[in-house]
Amino acid sequence: MPLWKDRKLGLPVKEAVKLFPELERYMDEHGRLDFSNRKVRILYNRAIAKAVFHLDIDYHPRGLVTTPISRYLFLKTFLRGGERVLEIGTGHTALMSLMAEKIFNCDVTATELDDEFFEYARRNVEKNRARIRLIKSDGGIIRGVIPEGERFDVIFSAPPYYEAPTKGVLTEKEGVGGGLYGENFSVRLIDEVLDYLKPGGKVALFFPDKKPLLDAITEKGKELGYSLKDVKFKAGTRWRHSLILTL
Ligand SMILES: C[S@@+](CC[C@H](N)C(=O)[O-])C[C@H]1O[C@@H](n2cnc3c(N)ncnc32)[C@H](O)[C@@H]1O
Repeated sequence: MPLWKDRKLGLPVKEAVKLFPELERYMDEHGRLDFSNRKVRILYNRAIAKAVFHLDIDYHPRGLVTTPISRYLFLKTFLRGGERVLEIGTGHTALMSLMAEKIFNCDVTATELDDEFFEYARRNVEKNRARIRLIKSDGGIIRGVIPEGERFDVIFSAPPYYEAPTKGVLTEKEGVGGGLYGENFSVRLIDEVLDYLKPGGKVALFFPDKKPLLDAITEKGKELGYSLKDVKFKAGTRWRHSLILTL
């Protein structure tokens, strides 16, 4: 497991400041950073990506501030290493796809809808000398985006899962899943991917601790014939879910 020198999965603030000295400006007298500031969150997470995961990541200034540790913990719930994987919506950082390739030695294909995020993702892949096949979505999830006949061991996503736009935290494309609980995007995803999974293949979705949303997707998953496993894990102060659907 990638760990910092203290054998912990994380990074002390003073180490992050050594990597990005501009962080010092946002530190209080107790050595704490002001995480309500987006710039601070970006720099701190860039430092973790670099120090712990050896990834050099640029974050889009208005995009979701993807946290490397939560994404690594999620990937660990379903990747064993060496799988052929597809990520839907890799975002501007391409962080999960990069981890899948660099840490889990997977053969990675990834999609992204947003033009600017796609360009950031392309640059992050290039900067880290990763072999990831990036595909631009024109609005489709998998049908019409990934060539017919392709099969994957695992298809994963941190899908948009809000029912309505969030106040400046996420862009609309990142956040809004549609439906009563934000479940529509994921429901469409688990249906469409059926034609793209190898026998015994799985889908893994990253979710917050939102029961109605998880219930809506679980119900649809059972209807489609999947076996389901909900792995709950803690990343920082927040509970997260890895919903794993197996054929
Ligand atoms: C919640 S964000 C997750 C980003 C990143 N994978 C992460 O772990 O932080 C969802 C991403 O999916 C993208 N997206 C939305 N609809 C999409 C679609 N139909 N195909 C591909 N990507 C899509 C958004 O632009 C956004 O980057």
